Amino acid sequence: MFQDLFYPRQVVLVTAATSEKSNVTAVEWIMPAGEKPEMLALSLRSTSLTLDLLCTSMEFVVAVPGEKLRDAVMLCGTTSGKFIDKFSEANLTQVKAKKVSAPLILEALANIECRVLNYTGCGDHVLVTAEVVEVNLTKTDEKIKPLMFEEGERFKISKVERR
Ligand SMILES: Cc1cc2nc3c(=O)[nH]c(=O)nc-3n(C[C@H](O)[C@H](O)[C@H](O)COP(=O)(O)O)c2cc1C
Repeated sequence: MFQDLFYPRQVVLVTAATSEKSNVTAVEWIMPAGEKPEMLALSLRSTSLTLDLLCTSMEFVVAVPGEKLRDAVMLCGTTSGKFIDKFSEANLTQVKAKKVSAPLILEALANIECRVLNYTGCGDHVLVTAEVVEVNLTKTDEKIKPLMFEEGERFKISKVERR
């Protein structure tokens, strides 16, 4: 697949919620997409519950996981919230966000609150562009190293250390 030429990629967790339900999923197809205003883009499978909730509320949160959330990310990326409560199964604590309906994840290194600007069909995926409306950095001793996804070696921590 041509996508293999783009490894490694950072994996994040994306949360979305309506008044009835909140959910979280793993996403590696994500990138910064604009500076002024700050924007990002991500691509979600059409069948994803997270996509459903995100398109209904037009809001979501990108939670940046560190090494400690490796197993939680795997669980969130291999099951659907249609069948289980992923927050509770993965021991992820939901915290009220400042500006959006989707929850922050307490255990994440950072939580980025986003408002959807546009979404458009992209084959079997939907491409979402969004404005960043709030960035929450978690106070933690854990070093800020992104959790990386690499083909054949499903999770690999980046050697690049960030301040
Ligand atoms: C490491 C990893 C990265 C993933 N990246 C994406 C992604 O970028 N886009 C996507 O739609 N699904 C991605 N997935 C798959 C979804 O997380 C998976 O289909 C999930 O079950 C959807 O859950 P939901 O129905 O609760 O939204 C990824 C899975 C893993 C394990």
